[in-house]
Amino acid sequence: MTSPTVCIPFFSGFGHTKRIAQAIAQGVGKSAQLIDVAAITDADWEALDAADAIVFGAPTYMGSAAARFSQFLEAVDTRREHGKWVDKIAAGFTTAIHPSGDKLATLQRLSIFAAQMGMIWVGQSEIGAPVKPDRHGANRDGSWLGLMVTEKLGQDDDLPASDLETARRFGARVEQVTTRWTRGHR
Ligand SMILES: Cc1cc2nc3c(=O)[nH]c(=O)nc-3n(C[C@H](O)[C@H](O)[C@H](O)COP(=O)(O)O)c2cc1C
Repeated sequence: MTSPTVCIPFFSGFGHTKRIAQAIAQGVGKSAQLIDVAAITDADWEALDAADAIVFGAPTYMGSAAARFSQFLEAVDTRREHGKWVDKIAAGFTTAIHPSGDKLATLQRLSIFAAQMGMIWVGQSEIGAPVKPDRHGANRDGSWLGLMVTEKLGQDDDLPASDLETARRFGARVEQVTTRWTRGHR
């Protein structure tokens, strides 16, 4: 059975969201395709239209998805009329500097967008500390609508290994859910 195709469109002003996108891609496996929306090409649009799943990634800027990413989402409107993305799996992630940082607003932005496109939203399943102390660092922000990561300002490990591992697991979850969803339908 072939692996489902998973596109990961992202915007990253300073590289943090890109590093999370790369970790998610590792979790997805070889069928993952990263797309920088600031340099999107016709081939990227074709890949998005053909994808089984799309994982949307935007940093939280001023309490919502960065404007450059919202610009990409608005460009997707050309797909809506023809129902091109209906029933694709969708998921989302965001990075910010504060523990809350209003990251939830960004995930709400992404999930509402996915609902408007008729996509099937997949959230997080990881439970870490403090509920499971032996899983310290897993899903550090305790977010289940999607993946949240909090950058540690000015530190060498500004994206801790546990956050990168949580991102890899999130990618693996999307890949597994998409495999179940598409089984027998491709
Ligand atoms: C214009 C701007 C607005 C920001 N607004 C927020 C915010 O509302 N909440 C927050 O916690 N961090 C905020 N940040 C910090 C970024 O979310 C954080 O540095 C993030 O990791 C950047 O991701 P990137 O490196 O992919 O651009 C803001 C940063 C910028 C540049």
